[in-house]
Formats: sequence, C-alpha cells, structure tokens
Amino acid sequence: MMDFNNFYSKQEHYFSPKHSGGMAEFIEKYSVSACRAVDLGAGEGRNSIYLSKLGFDVIAIEPSTVGANKIKEYSDRNGLGIKVLNTDFIECLDRLQNIGFLVSLTSLEHMEYSYMIEAIKSIKQILNVGGYVYIMVFTEDDPGFKNESENASECSAFIKHYFKKNELKNHFSDFEILHYSEYIKEDNAHGPIHFHGKAKLFAKKI
Ligand SMILES: C[S@@+](CC[C@H](N)C(=O)[O-])C[C@H]1O[C@@H](n2cnc3c(N)ncnc32)[C@H](O)[C@@H]1O
Repeated sequence: MMDFNNFYSKQEHYFSPKHSGGMAEFIEKYSVSACRAVDLGAGEGRNSIYLSKLGFDVIAIEPSTVGANKIKEYSDRNGLGIKVLNTDFIECLDRLQNIGFLVSLTSLEHMEYSYMIEAIKSIKQILNVGGYVYIMVFTEDDPGFKNESENASECSAFIKHYFKKNELKNHFSDFEILHYSEYIKEDNAHGPIHFHGKAKLFAKKI
C-alpha cells in the first residue's frame, strides 16, 4: 500500500481542506439523517470533520499515521469525538458495526485489485440495510491512466487500479443506485493544475 505520510507532512492540508460538495449535496437531497458513518481512507479528515459537525458518529479509517494524527488532533481540539482508526480497512472490519453511511473518496484506487474487490464486499457487509454509500474513484479517462503526464496528478504513479467504464456502478448492482456519473474534472487543490477522470456513485443498500 502507498504511504501517504510524505504528502500529509508537506503542509497543513495536502488535499483541499474543503469537504466533498457532492457528498454534502446527496446527504441533503436524500435527507440522510445522522447515524454511525465510516470515512474509508479519510486522509487528513476533511469529510470526517464535515460529517461529525453535522452530528454523524464518525469512524475515520486512515493508515497514514500523519493523516490519522491530524484528524485526531483536530477532533480533540474541537470536541468532535471522531473515532480514528490508524489502520487499513480490512484490518478493522470487526470494529465496524451498525454503519448507516460510508464515504470513500478516491481511496479504492489506491488498493491492489484483489484487495479492492474484498474491500467492496466488506463495504456491502458492514452497511445496514437502508444505509448509503458515497464513493468516488478515478477512471480510465484519467490522464494518469493514459500516461498524459502534462495533465496528470503528481500522485498518479501511486494509483493501483483505474476503474473501467461502469465498473464502479456494476460492483453495486445489488444496491439501489441513486446517482452514477463519469466525467473529467480539473483539480487545482494540490500540486500543479491537473485533471482527473472520475466516477461518482451514491447508492442505498436494499
Ligand atoms: C487520495 S487520498 C484521499 C483522502 C481523503 N479521502 C480525501 O478525499 O481527502 C487516499 C487515501 O486512501 C488511504 N488508503 C489507501 N489504502 C487504504 C486502505 N487499504 N485502507 C484504508 N485507507 C486506505 C490512503 O492512506 C489515503 O489517505
């Protein structure tokens, strides 16, 4: 697994400090009420912090010690009570019960393919019936996949798996798909301006 410690040690917020607008939009649109939530690959905690401030009981899973410590320090300083698990996802499944919402923002593509398949199976298992997932991944439209180095993220060399067309959606064909889209978007949040091919899924376990 790639170690994000170097990135997270560079500056206060390596990735944007701002939470995912897409996640916030779907929470509001589908009136997802506060529940126990998992932020899988929480990074420096931007989405965990947002969810916690909304009243969710958040478990932030982040194998980078630097990232995990940042989340814990922010949570302690602000009395948020985020439970930070400084480990990788499959290692901590036994501590994930009664989950009503799971967010995974550009973390599944950092896993080896067979591990990622297990991770998706586990996401489905730990989620309550009626629970929601919001997942974003990089796709084969990403300049990093196409070796267009001038448009690619400086992190592309670390991506293990770019998702094929409809691949993310097909993994969740047993869920109610409330939103699925694939698109290319500029990213100016870290490093030189670059582009990403992305797939975005919001779905409900039935
Ligand atoms: C591109 S960063 C995204 C961080 C965060 N989701 C965000 O949007 O700011 C990907 C994160 O996934 C984490 N990650 C990679 N493999 C993981 C695994 N097996 N279990 C949990 N997290 C993992 C990395 O440590 C890294 O922090």
